[in-house]
Amino acid sequence: MAEALFLGLDVGTSGVKAILVSPTGAVEGAATAPLSMDMPRPGWAEQDPEAWWQASGAAIRGLLAQRAAAHVAAVGISGQMHSSVFLDRAGAVIRPALLWCDGRTTAECREIVAKAGGEARLRDLVCNPALEGFTLPKVLWLRNQEPAAFARLATVLLAKDFVRLRLTGTLATEPSDASGTLMFDPARLGWSSELLDAVGLPLSLLPPVRGSSEVLGRVTAQGAALTGLATGTPVVGGGADNACGAAGVGAISPGEAVASWGTSGTVLAPTAEPRVDPTLRAHTFCHILPGIWYVMGVVLSAGGAFAWYREQIARDLAAADQPEDRLVEEAASVPPGAEGVTFLPYLQGERTPHRDASLRAAFVGLSLAHTRAHLTRAVLEGVCFALRDCVTILQELGMAPSYLLLTGGGAKSPFIRRLQADVYGLPVTTVNREEGPAYGAALLAAVGAGAFPDLPSAVRGTLARAPLIDADAGAHREYQRLYQRYRACLSAARFP
Ligand code: XUL
Repeated sequence: MAEALFLGLDVGTSGVKAILVSPTGAVEGAATAPLSMDMPRPGWAEQDPEAWWQASGAAIRGLLAQRAAAHVAAVGISGQMHSSVFLDRAGAVIRPALLWCDGRTTAECREIVAKAGGEARLRDLVCNPALEGFTLPKVLWLRNQEPAAFARLATVLLAKDFVRLRLTGTLATEPSDASGTLMFDPARLGWSSELLDAVGLPLSLLPPVRGSSEVLGRVTAQGAALTGLATGTPVVGGGADNACGAAGVGAISPGEAVASWGTSGTVLAPTAEPRVDPTLRAHTFCHILPGIWYVMGVVLSAGGAFAWYREQIARDLAAADQPEDRLVEEAASVPPGAEGVTFLPYLQGERTPHRDASLRAAFVGLSLAHTRAHLTRAVLEGVCFALRDCVTILQELGMAPSYLLLTGGGAKSPFIRRLQADVYGLPVTTVNREEGPAYGAALLAAVGAGAFPDLPSAVRGTLARAPLIDADAGAHREYQRLYQRYRACLSAARFP
């Protein structure tokens, strides 16, 4: 009989990734299917949930085509957080999902704070502030702006839970993703009926909350038809992409910290209790390991800013092999600070630390002497400075990490790894796997299938760390100065 493999699926913003992982942790295959984002207006961002499902099917079929004889023992799904799937009574999608980086719900955030009885009360109820990207303001936006669609609303789901619903017919979520809805209390591990009552929404809109590594359903005949998986394959709860990404580099205990570059950028640190930033600059969510939470700062455009830059400003490279590598090489040819150019990466507004959906990106300090190399360097440095804002918050909260695990795009390039170490002034490291959230999801599948007793054993049994890369003291001093310059440019991001 073929070896049992675990399938990890990540429903991201720029694409869906599917991987197969062996019981020893080796990656036995990988396939992706691209996704695009609709931006009907500046600051808005939508995707059709059915496109996630179709892309999931394409990625899994592509993966299984590589390993025809593979026996998939279980599936784990990770996904973009917060994005609102609106379903009617028959389970049909009512309208495109408003994504985690959609900034249209500022009025609804104010409505939530007012109805909750103030921000301090909201923090007591759900450990987090009302931010445009979270799910609850999106539900209220539907009620306020599209009442006919709202009248049909029967269920609100998150991206990976929608894909699991299509795959297995089971309606459920788990704590790590529920935490990002602003309707779930991460401290008491349940939906906040008090907040739901205050905003006038019924609990019946929300799915049951079950375990991240628990088998929640089995692939149905329809799920098998789209994906090529065998009917009856178990599917576990899975988790939010940031939680699965952290587990995918082994960050599941206090003392660890991860900096990730996906479309968004995040810096997160696991905690043994639900710690809340008193000024609410960072988020407090449940991890995918019971009894562990994390504090996280979120930069809305990290890899997304670099991808936008490449597509809009460096189009001539589109046909080149590895266009990002070419750009990074150019960036490395100019000195730190890009000879006076600063980039503020606020293309979709910003969460941490500004909590301001109306911020916009800017290049500052351009002259005729500057070239694309300077612009590229400024983009990469700007993203690192934005992530540095998040690192600073962890330090201020007394969670000063002694090193950072890097994952995502910024972990793959030696230049960006060094840039991160020098900007944060901290050693950085990576692990022997580069699959990020899909890897964490595969580990949850392995636990659900009984290959490991729990997630810590799965992490110990599969991941190994590379040696630390130390920050260069001189370069860090220079980047401290440049970070102050970046902070001083903030007024350029405020729309008049
Ligand atoms: C986290 C967040 C993003 C998405 C990206 O709060 O909004 O990191 O999860 O997929």
